Amino acid sequence: MSVSAESESIKKLLTEALEALKHSYCPYSHFPVGAAVLTIDGHIYRGCNVENAAYSGSICAERTAIVKAVSDGHKQFTAIAVSSKMSSQLIVPCGLCRQFMREFSSDLAIYLVRPDGTYERTSLDVLFPKSFGPQDLQEGVENLVI
Ligand code: THU
Repeated sequence: MSVSAESESIKKLLTEALEALKHSYCPYSHFPVGAAVLTIDGHIYRGCNVENAAYSGSICAERTAIVKAVSDGHKQFTAIAVSSKMSSQLIVPCGLCRQFMREFSSDLAIYLVRPDGTYERTSLDVLFPKSFGPQDLQEGVENLVI
């Protein structure tokens, strides 16, 4: 898709996701990832992957961006952009990040961005269909027979 056809806020989101890539802390994988999430009221939060010597302590770029937004009081998102240094393949969110996004939205627009700014648009319902979310948990608890 051409960047010129997108709204100003999406253009900015793509730029911010590429900017976030520069701050990646990935001394173990050497695989930088950047992300930027757009809130319903137009704020953009950036994130990058932050790895840890105790590997399981690492966090992905998408979750960093969402955690930053939620900790600032934002829980409604319209889009997220994810960038990497891969130029032939597109970065796609890992399973855990898809579940993390699902907590706050089931129809989030997802932009997968290459270093040159080209991208593809997909969505959470395409990448993560038939997902388990907060409403399922609530219904299961309501139907509990003790
Ligand atoms: N990574 C992300 O930040 N987002 C993804 O969706 C895929 C993977 C990071 C995690 C780890 O720091 C590195 O990429 C290699 O897996």
